[in-house]
Amino acid sequence: MHDMIYLDNGATSFPKPLEVYQFMDQFYRNYGVSPGRSGYDLCIETGELVEDTRRLLCQFFNGTDPNRLCFGYNSTDALNLVIFGMLQRGDHAISTTIEHNSVLRPLFHLAEYDGVEVDYVPFNEKGFVDPDDFGKLFRNNTRLVVVNHASNVIGTVQPIAEIGRRCREHGIPFAIDASQSAGMIPIDMAAMNVDVVAFTGHKSLMGPTGIGGLYVREGIEIRHTRAGGTGVRSAVRTHLDEYPYRLEYGTLNTVGVSGLHAGVKWVQQQGVENIHRREMALARILRDGLREIPGVTLYCLNDLADHISVLTFNVDGLEALNTGTILDVDYNIACRTGLHCAPLVHEQIGTAEIHGSVRFGIGPFNTEEHIRTAIDAVREIAESRQD
Ligand SMILES: Cc1ncc(COP(=O)(O)O)c(C=O)c1O
Repeated sequence: MHDMIYLDNGATSFPKPLEVYQFMDQFYRNYGVSPGRSGYDLCIETGELVEDTRRLLCQFFNGTDPNRLCFGYNSTDALNLVIFGMLQRGDHAISTTIEHNSVLRPLFHLAEYDGVEVDYVPFNEKGFVDPDDFGKLFRNNTRLVVVNHASNVIGTVQPIAEIGRRCREHGIPFAIDASQSAGMIPIDMAAMNVDVVAFTGHKSLMGPTGIGGLYVREGIEIRHTRAGGTGVRSAVRTHLDEYPYRLEYGTLNTVGVSGLHAGVKWVQQQGVENIHRREMALARILRDGLREIPGVTLYCLNDLADHISVLTFNVDGLEALNTGTILDVDYNIACRTGLHCAPLVHEQIGTAEIHGSVRFGIGPFNTEEHIRTAIDAVREIAESRQD
């Protein structure tokens, strides 16, 4: 049997570039102290890497003030800070049915317990939301629009600039969940009319788990919903208002920051467009191969324009979990099955009752051979259902 073929890059990228492992190792051995809290050299140097990484990511998203780049654990953490910090009783928010639970559950929570009203814009049969639908839902009390940039289930990339333009015209803050898109497709906050970007480090930014964050554009204020140590101005009784402290709590995950630093550098060296082009070439081979197999249903995959390299399908008559188990046990292919933390997507594509779908997520280290092997495996599984 061949070595494992990893097609679960939608969950987390694996492996990481060698540079990431090496940089994290040498950084943590040599600079593993708490940054910015004291005046000794090592502490200052550790803090410099953190500030360098803020600058790197600020530039990466085309922000203007590195202090408005705040680190957290991941995008779930960042989205919680945004959603709970921008909405309160009596407010209205707009989101979409393409969201991940990292957006849906905070919104459901606020609707259930805190009197926030939320509308969800549905996507069309190709997997895209219509920017005009947002305009129709704007109210005087709409305080936030939050939209998934790229779907972790069907892979579609939403028309963010157009949605952002409508929000801007009405003065409504606009946040995007860039979990799947950051590092996979270029994100220019200014050109895309985006006010807040929430990102996670461990997917296409090629960093480790446990590090992520958000960039908050000037003029957008997020209330702090937590409080704690910042390492500076300790006598102040309430949590600090100035960024980045406003949205950072306790000792930073500096080893995570170091891995993210190396990951982003690697992505920049390769070029986001080049990574995307290469992965989409593989995605096309995969889509074309899968759609020729009788007994395989693909979802929202007619056109791969405005798409990331995430594809979802089912083998007719087989629950996704079972297909995934066969791929793993018989073919040594790792994929993701189920609802992918995005229950409304599955409700809309009709896969909720059959417990979801199988997802292949292509990463920068996948090869054409991996893809052809995966197609052959799915063909054999589908043929065995028809015997
Ligand atoms: C679209 C989307 N949003 C949010 C998340 C949450 O990312 P994390 O688990 O790193 O917080 C994911 C991860 O699967 C995702 O795909």
